[in-house]
Amino acid sequence: MDFDKLIEKFCEMLKTSKFVVALTGAGVSVPSGIPDFRSPNGLYAKYGQDIFEIDEFYKNPDRFYNFAKEGLIPMLSAQPNVVHHMLAKLEKAGMLKGVITQNIDGLHQKAGSKNVAEIHGSVRIWNCLKCTKRYEILDDGQREFLLSTNFRCSCGGLVKPNITFFGEMLPMGEFAKAQKWAESSDLFITLGTSLVVYPAAQLPIYALRNRAKLVIVNKGETPLDRYATFKFDIDLTEFSNKILETLNTFLN
Ligand code: OAD
Repeated sequence: MDFDKLIEKFCEMLKTSKFVVALTGAGVSVPSGIPDFRSPNGLYAKYGQDIFEIDEFYKNPDRFYNFAKEGLIPMLSAQPNVVHHMLAKLEKAGMLKGVITQNIDGLHQKAGSKNVAEIHGSVRIWNCLKCTKRYEILDDGQREFLLSTNFRCSCGGLVKPNITFFGEMLPMGEFAKAQKWAESSDLFITLGTSLVVYPAAQLPIYALRNRAKLVIVNKGETPLDRYATFKFDIDLTEFSNKILETLNTFLN
């Protein structure tokens, strides 16, 4: 089947399904200038696989902070792209229940999505590990302060972003919400994720067990491709533009 036909069929599924859920990964933010993790020019190639290991953080926090200056702080000023906007429009039109995201950049909310489950936390919140002071949605002043003190709080404690490191628990409330959405869905769409990190990659499996249809949009293979009704191995920008064009009359 050619691409246009597949898109049409997928849009029909969107219109006729009752509970549609999206799971997004780092690929969704690549068009906003944020690198993903596992591509050849992704964050792990540059900074090492263990940059998000909690033991590494405690052993050598300044290694993490050097990465954070380049890899996390710029996320705060990034802008959503057409993929985020397409998902926000689907939600507004009642065609999408919510977005479960592994991303920590807050770009779905910036694009206008209301129902977002952030299962790996958020880079907009940082906590002092000593006095528990909370730095929320870092404004320019707080950002400058943390950069100039090398991420030390005014009490001298280390300030850690509220994101899930490997070796830490996921935020339980967010994951429980995500699991409930997955189990209630009749159409589950994954976008820009390699689906190799658990328990996030378990969510499409919960959906499949509930007889939901699975659609995967990702450049490159994923371990769940064989369970997908449709797999779009294309650029997410192209995919999203096509969806917006095809559903034009439903989305405004
Ligand atoms: P990955 O880097 O593992 O996967 C991103 C996927 O997006 C890759 O398969 C890319 O090929 C694809 N991709 C990139 N740009 C794309 C584009 N423009 N169009 C289509 N596809 C594109 O990132 P995640 O699956 O999100 O966890 O990684 C999951 C988790 O692993 C992250 O949340 C993070 C990481 O370790 C934690 O930090 C806890």
